[in-house]
Amino acid sequence: MTLQDYQARVNAYLAASIQVPEGEKGALADAMQYSLMAGGKRIRPVLALEFSRMLGGDMEATLPIACAIEMLHTYSLIHDDLPCMDNDDLRRGKPTNHVVYGECTATLAGDALQSLAFSVLLSAPVEAERKVRCASILAEAAGYQGMCYGQHLDMLGEGRTLSAEELTEINNHKTGALLSASCMLGASAAGATQAQLDASAQFGLLLGLAFQIRDDMLDVLSSDAQLGKPVGSDAEEHKNTYMALYGAEKCAKEIRALTERAISILQANFSDTVFLTELARSLETRNH
Ligand code: IPE
Ligand code: IPE
Ligand code: MG
Ligand code: MG
Ligand code: MG
Repeated sequence: MTLQDYQARVNAYLAASIQVPEGEKGALADAMQYSLMAGGKRIRPVLALEFSRMLGGDMEATLPIACAIEMLHTYSLIHDDLPCMDNDDLRRGKPTNHVVYGECTATLAGDALQSLAFSVLLSAPVEAERKVRCASILAEAAGYQGMCYGQHLDMLGEGRTLSAEELTEINNHKTGALLSASCMLGASAAGATQAQLDASAQFGLLLGLAFQIRDDMLDVLSSDAQLGKPVGSDAEEHKNTYMALYGAEKCAKEIRALTERAISILQANFSDTVFLTELARSLETRNH
């Protein structure tokens, strides 16, 4: 499978996953579908599918689990853009959810995407014990000790000067938790051992940190058109970022080092790692 093949499978599954009622009662489902299908990179489900494949898992069976993390991620983006959080008006190249549907519907669309993620995950034709482990991985990664905690710290840090350690703690939670869970979900769907699960988690966490540093760089160096979201958002919201702390050159070095550490963990614990090695390296210099 190529990256494009994976993305196509994920997009087809996601497109069929929400039924939109006719008329004004359809606005909530419509809002969910709007952000879900606005065109994300699908990195998280791709990681899940590839981890499953590496461990001999079944692609069709893993697909609902992979799509669950994309739904959860999309919810996090809708809420991240709200006026009370980052207050952004562009996402995935389109007006943000609240700009189109209003804050109430956008908030509910995020909430409902989160619960849909669990419904879809639990519908996967995977044996019950593996599915329970997947549901628990997703719940922990999303919640008050995972992504939500990272978002909370991110808000608390606005307008204050944080140390590199504090910034890493934020990023490991707000971004690392879901990247790490993506890898663990795929591994778990394929019946990974505890050691394989731990290695998947470590790989995802390092990749997630590199991913967020690149995100912070692009917020300064890219353009709205290329990025599909507003550049300069971090400075406007007085965020702490690696870009502000280190500058572009040191960020690039840090991304390289984190990616190489991630790849060495991958290669030490799994075989058939070409796809993920290439994906990790391509993310180092991604432009959107
Ligand atoms: C954006 O994630 C939010 C971060 C954690 C940096 P992505 O860069 O994966 O966004 P999409 O899914 O491609 O839109
Ligand atoms: C967001 O970090 C992480 C989550 C959505 C959990 P950012 O606020 O930097 O993400 P973007 O730049 O808006 O995509
Ligand atoms: Mg944010
Ligand atoms: Mg944001
Ligand atoms: Mg950002």
